[in-house]
Amino acid sequence: MVKFKTPFTEMTKVKYPIIMGAFAGLGKADFAAPVSEAGGFGIITAHNFKTIKRFKAELEKMQSLTSKPFGVNFSVGPPGERFRHFMKEDDFMPYVEAAIDFGIKTMTTSAYKAKKIGDRLHEAGCFWIHKCATLKHAKSAEKHGVDMVTIVGIEGTGFKNPIQNTTLINITVAKKILKIPVIAAGGIADARGFLAALMMGAAAVCLGTLLMATEECPISDNFKQTKLVNQKGYNDENFYKKIFHLSLKDSPVPSMAVSLIDEILPIKDRIEQIINDANKILEKWGIAPNKSITLI
Ligand SMILES: Cc1cc2nc3c(=O)[nH]c(=O)nc-3n(C[C@H](O)[C@H](O)[C@H](O)COP(=O)(O)O)c2cc1C
Repeated sequence: MVKFKTPFTEMTKVKYPIIMGAFAGLGKADFAAPVSEAGGFGIITAHNFKTIKRFKAELEKMQSLTSKPFGVNFSVGPPGERFRHFMKEDDFMPYVEAAIDFGIKTMTTSAYKAKKIGDRLHEAGCFWIHKCATLKHAKSAEKHGVDMVTIVGIEGTGFKNPIQNTTLINITVAKKILKIPVIAAGGIADARGFLAALMMGAAAVCLGTLLMATEECPISDNFKQTKLVNQKGYNDENFYKKIFHLSLKDSPVPSMAVSLIDEILPIKDRIEQIINDANKILEKWGIAPNKSITLI
């Protein structure tokens, strides 16, 4: 098996350059722990826990389920009436303290600027990864001192933006204009997407929709079968418009990644499938197994 060494695997100490996305409602220990166990970086999404007590209990549960590294996400609500129900940066500060005290070393922020959280993480000696939807915001995150930035392509899900680009443009341009390492998100759902992102210069891939198509994802089987499996999103005009014409706004629905999903698997198999298929492709390219690929 090829060993992938990137700034992300070095920072987080995980086996594979794969990070779980943040998930409103779903990003809890039973879903995140198998990602860490499989060699990726599982993420507990803090805003799913309305009290610090429940958040801390979830971190403890996570630790009981995996001895591998994992992280926490703080999805910061932007200003404005539409986002009045979202937690804001100040609401998260006690959660940030709890996560630092717990010993979490790498944390992610998303949705809106989070410099106060980031500064506190750095003061405590932790790493800060910020996720955004545009190259403009990635550049500004770099100015604010983030250690790594995740950029979500328009084919992905989450917050949409009128100047959002594709994953191909995001990562290749980011490599030209940013000094910090970048993580690719949006539409990645198989070994080819994984390898393509690394070839474009990404330090890791961030998976959202693909991880929903797993046994451990806490959504109904009916949803998995009717919204995730065998969806030819690329041929479906309504779905296409939802994703690419910005009507998606901030509703967390599966992304264009559904175009590549044809079965529900345990998370371990899902991640192994990416890595095994990636190895087969690399072998075809003449990159021998047991080689260490360093992408620093
Ligand atoms: C059901 C669902 C809920 C999500 N909730 C959040 C969230 O609360 N905060 C956030 O930053 N991103 C959220 N996302 C976005 C993912 O973290 C990730 O950036 C995105 O799914 C990547 O694109 P992909 O789905 O094409 O892999 C969510 C995605 C889905 C599918």
